[in-house]
Amino acid sequence: MKSQASPPGPLAGRVAVVTGAARGIGAAVATRLARNGATVVLADRDSDPLEAVASGLRGEGLDAQAQTVDITHEADIAALSARLQRQARLDILVNNAAILDGTPIDALTRARFEEVQAVNQNGALWMTLGLLGLLRRSEHGRVVNIASIIGVRGVADSLAYATAKGGVVNMTRSLAVDLAPDGILVNCICPGFVDTRMALLPDGSGHEHETDWFRDIYIKYGRIPLRRPAQPDEIAAATSFFCGDDCRYVTGQILLVDGGVSATF
Ligand SMILES: NC(=O)c1ccc[n+]([C@@H]2O[C@H](COP(=O)([O-])OP(=O)(O)OC[C@H]3O[C@@H](n4cnc5c(N)ncnc54)[C@H](O)[C@@H]3O)[C@@H](O)[C@H]2O)c1
Repeated sequence: MKSQASPPGPLAGRVAVVTGAARGIGAAVATRLARNGATVVLADRDSDPLEAVASGLRGEGLDAQAQTVDITHEADIAALSARLQRQARLDILVNNAAILDGTPIDALTRARFEEVQAVNQNGALWMTLGLLGLLRRSEHGRVVNIASIIGVRGVADSLAYATAKGGVVNMTRSLAVDLAPDGILVNCICPGFVDTRMALLPDGSGHEHETDWFRDIYIKYGRIPLRRPAQPDEIAAATSFFCGDDCRYVTGQILLVDGGVSATF
């Protein structure tokens, strides 16, 4: 693996994998970790934007590499693992890749439900287990799963997505217990509403958050106490805490980064 020297920073010398890093929250997490000194392998199924993000980071003098990975494909995970074996190191895995689904229950097919589970829940599981041998060799092993506020709350027309994200939340706790003897800390971030292409809209399509629907329901009517969506870097900031040495005695925890949504009703 071609690699330039990591810049100084709290994560200097560490190697991180971030899934879904071609855009949105994943790109912001990869950027934060790289700016903190980590060598970052950006993984996504969408190759061109992925390479654009990685080369932008390299342009800043950071150590970033792109690897095309579909997290539902065992062979892709094996290829990523083989690449990391050559680097002989993995310290941090951020399971961020996911797809949005807003199918009403009467329209939900078995195929769509299983597709959403395959990416949003099972993808995080098999990525973690596929890279576990490498993580176990690290003295700083960290896994951070990006779930959702919809993993801890029910929302209309979100059965498949909510089931998968709820699975990620409790997978985090169970993995934390299983991996504690290896010194690997496993935690979870549940974003609320983030200003990315994956916005929760009634038809399940991806849009920017600045729509009438979003403004009316979540801002005008006060469903977000902070009255705005999060920016991706605000999710990355919380994620980066779980990845670093300031997090040493926290594992199995679920942090809601939601502007106060879950504090009210
Ligand atoms: N945006 C929000 O409001 C919001 C809220 C709560 C939780 N989240 C969660 O945050 C994470 C990131 O969301 P985002 O808003 O940045 O989404 P996004 O749609 O902007 O980016 C998701 C990325 O994941 C990649 N991806 C999807 N399926 C993949 C697969 N099978 N293999 C590899 N890569 C795949 C996509 O190509 C894309 O680059 C997701 O887990 C999402 O569920 C987002």
